[in-house]
Amino acid sequence: MREHWSKLGFILASIGSAIGLGNIWRFPYIVGENGGGAFLIAYFTAIIIFGFPLMIMEFAIGEKFKGSVVTSLKKIHPKIKYIGYFAVFVCLGILSYYLVITGWTLAYSVFSIFTQIDFTVFTNTLYPIAMFFITLLIITFIVRTGIKKGIERVCDVLLPTLFILVILLVVKALTLPNAIEGIRFYLTPNISSLSNPSMWLMAIAQALFSLSLGTGILITYGSYLKKTNIPKSSIIVIISDTLIAVLAGFIIFPIVFSFGINPATGPQLAFITLPKIFSFMAFGNFFQTIFFLLLFIGALTSAISMMEVGTTTLIDEFRLNRKKATLIVLGIIFIAGLPSALSYSGFSFTVFGKTFLDMMDHLFGDILLPVCALVITTGIMWFIKPKELLNEINKNSKIKIPGFIVPVLKYFIPALLLIIVLMELV
Ligand code: TRP
Repeated sequence: MREHWSKLGFILASIGSAIGLGNIWRFPYIVGENGGGAFLIAYFTAIIIFGFPLMIMEFAIGEKFKGSVVTSLKKIHPKIKYIGYFAVFVCLGILSYYLVITGWTLAYSVFSIFTQIDFTVFTNTLYPIAMFFITLLIITFIVRTGIKKGIERVCDVLLPTLFILVILLVVKALTLPNAIEGIRFYLTPNISSLSNPSMWLMAIAQALFSLSLGTGILITYGSYLKKTNIPKSSIIVIISDTLIAVLAGFIIFPIVFSFGINPATGPQLAFITLPKIFSFMAFGNFFQTIFFLLLFIGALTSAISMMEVGTTTLIDEFRLNRKKATLIVLGIIFIAGLPSALSYSGFSFTVFGKTFLDMMDHLFGDILLPVCALVITTGIMWFIKPKELLNEINKNSKIKIPGFIVPVLKYFIPALLLIIVLMELV
């Protein structure tokens, strides 16, 4: 018998997958690099015309075919099962380095209680590897315990906690001197950048990453559904994810501006810049702990969903039990993640002048993720009967999604993804 989520558990687990490093760490610095408020307009547009259709498609495929990404695609057409395997590959590839960063956030949240942390000193110890391994063990344990008793129960506790931590930090940030400067930068749209196509593509790529679309995660989660209102659940997931991303901006920008730092400092913002700032703040240690705990919770619930993609595939395709399946995924991720875990250490693992972790993020996060979303969407939409898909989406929903969604998914969205892939390559 296949396990089933409860209604709320499904929504919380999906929100948990969506909210992660992408919201709290990536979103604010991308807004910073793209001139503030105009990017918000592009992002809101992207989640509506791009994120929502993809999300209801993935959930519906999962619910209808009740199988892992490989199994579901195989049931649509035997030929596209290879796309399913590719999706598992990309998903686990992302997990391998995502989990290294998750380990950093765990270390930072523990160390922040006691001391000042310096990124270079930290990465030259053995802690990054130890923490990578510990987080890997934590998610393995949760996934192995199962959908309802494991993932659902953990998300039931962690997601409300995450919301509370966000509110705490927003209040702290907004009461800092000069907070208003940060808000002004954040919310004032630089209208001229709206005519810049690369900003729009960036917004779409960010929506793809932040909503965990395109690698079969939502197909996997959907496969454990019994009966749910797919459009409504998707809207709740999208709104929650976007709310946290927007609130993260209300944390980062007031902090950054109140200490006179350039908001476009890029990826090192969270691990290098912010700890320096926290050390000047009243109760800095406390708020720094809260901040990294928030990152850790967000990242952990996302990592769980990535691991579930590999696990469900082994269960459905190879008839393994959950215990064996998680053990195999653990082994794969440990080996695949080790070079990333070592890459900022004394070993300084570099490839083409980039650290291994940055190379993985570029290869998997920037290139293979949109490629995977492109082939998965095209593959599914090519072979599925539009009526079948629409029926599944609308089965339990009062408000019916119109047939217009089919050409959007079949032509418009793949075209956008293709442009993103080409842009990344040149
Ligand atoms: N959505 C998560 C975040 O914002 C990251 C994530 C989870 C993800 N699963 C994914 C990104 C699958 C791409 C593909 O951090």
